[in-house]
Amino acid sequence: MFTYNCLNPIAKIGLDKFTDAYEPCANLEDADAVLVRSASMHDLALPERLLAVARAGAGVNNIPLDKCSEKGIVVFNTPGANANGVKELVIAGLLLASRGVIEGIEWVRENAADPDIAKNMEKAKKNFAGNELQGKKLGVIGLGAIGIRVANVATALGMDVYGYDPYLSVDAAWQISSKIVRFNQIEDIYRTCDYITVHVPLLPETKGMIDREAISQMRDGAVVLNFARDVLVNEADMVEALQAGKIKAYVSDFANPTTAGQPGCIILPHLGASTAESEDNCAVMAVEELKDYLENGNIVNSVNFPKVDLGVCTGGGRIAIFHRNVANMFVQFTNVFGRINENIANLASKSKGEYAYTLLDLDKPATQEALDALSKIEGVIRIRTVK
Ligand code: MLT
Repeated sequence: MFTYNCLNPIAKIGLDKFTDAYEPCANLEDADAVLVRSASMHDLALPERLLAVARAGAGVNNIPLDKCSEKGIVVFNTPGANANGVKELVIAGLLLASRGVIEGIEWVRENAADPDIAKNMEKAKKNFAGNELQGKKLGVIGLGAIGIRVANVATALGMDVYGYDPYLSVDAAWQISSKIVRFNQIEDIYRTCDYITVHVPLLPETKGMIDREAISQMRDGAVVLNFARDVLVNEADMVEALQAGKIKAYVSDFANPTTAGQPGCIILPHLGASTAESEDNCAVMAVEELKDYLENGNIVNSVNFPKVDLGVCTGGGRIAIFHRNVANMFVQFTNVFGRINENIANLASKSKGEYAYTLLDLDKPATQEALDALSKIEGVIRIRTVK
């Protein structure tokens, strides 16, 4: 029996995937697994029994990754599961920044009681005229699940699209429209594009990347869209650039006191992935990832441990070892089983940064003697008996 705690409401369609072998629990300290959306976990004490955290969404800045890694707690996210929802809102953001849609709607509201509204709107509308997207240049910074979708749709809208992503994966490359021009320098995006949209994760090296210096390289009257995380942009610099007329509009999905209500800022209350479809997709993916890990020890879509998948556990025993990515670990693991004459039927191991994860299939459940010996090896962080 496994227990799980939901720190935020998680869509029922996902929770319904849990079988009778799973039980919800009200307190984090009783949980083997946690499901979370945007609740901050940074100040929470993580119980020793906690095995995994699944973030129903892409960004993991609300989760203490270092602390989890040091305790051998696997953190999953759901890349791509809400990408369509975010993509659609980015396209809306492009349109809102180009046409006087918001101002026009406000004008109609303000003049709703005017019996001559139909006549007067023809005079007023010149104040809300805008530009079309077709033929304009869009720069997409970050070609992951969302960036690719935005780029591909924008080409279908007739925009000239430029992409920048030094970490482009092979899978991602297959999905990008051949019409998209790839830049190797981010400065080329700044210099070239009328619209710039950011789709990178929040990391120490991406925090504040769109700052005064980056903005100064942009075209006069550029539009910047941020549906990733507010602190990727130095928003004080952005507001200054809007006031100076350097930037035409800043569209962000993150309301905060720096930008809310500022002229030129079009700010939404984190609606990107807030669609029924995205919430369902994220919940299903998060629960499936958790189940595969809890039942089989397989790790797919973790942000702090590598992908390791030995399939469904059908053998006599399986153990999972979290360890540091240092020399001589396998020799020591295999020696343990050699000494007690136990066969290792399958072994899969991968590393990610300074951490590594090894799954061992055995003919029978690991003995306490073997587990004790493994736990004494320097560099081993956690051992889990899967079966
Ligand atoms: C994400 O990180 O997936 C999106 O910002 C949506 C969310 O936070 O739920």
